[in-house]
Amino acid sequence: TYIVTDNCIKCKYTDCVEVCPVDCFYEGENMLVIHPDECIDCGVCEPECPADAIKPDTEPGLEKWLEINTEYATKWPNITAKKEPMPEADAMDGQPGKFEKFFS
Ligand code: SF4
Ligand code: F3S
Repeated sequence: TYIVTDNCIKCKYTDCVEVCPVDCFYEGENMLVIHPDECIDCGVCEPECPADAIKPDTEPGLEKWLEINTEYATKWPNITAKKEPMPEADAMDGQPGKFEKFFS
């Protein structure tokens, strides 16, 4: 599966939802997650994210993010259409410590 990681937080560019063939993105206040059981591993969303936030879960060190995607995909609503990025998206792109401050 692919998963959404830290750098989506406070950016939410949403280019990813536009290309997903199975509509498996779910939206929180400050970030999106992928439902790992619905993702068919096609990989098309990964290069679409301007924040480089989408990764295959086979990358080392992403266990925490797999858990977060799994948990919140069942709690947050489905998102299937692109929308405006968050107002501070360009300034927040690449900032450290976003999870601790803004995860929601
Ligand atoms: Fe959707 Fe494919 Fe990305 Fe999985 S890898 S979230 S199926 S676009
Ligand atoms: Fe987030 Fe990138 Fe999608 S910033 S909303 S994972 S395009």
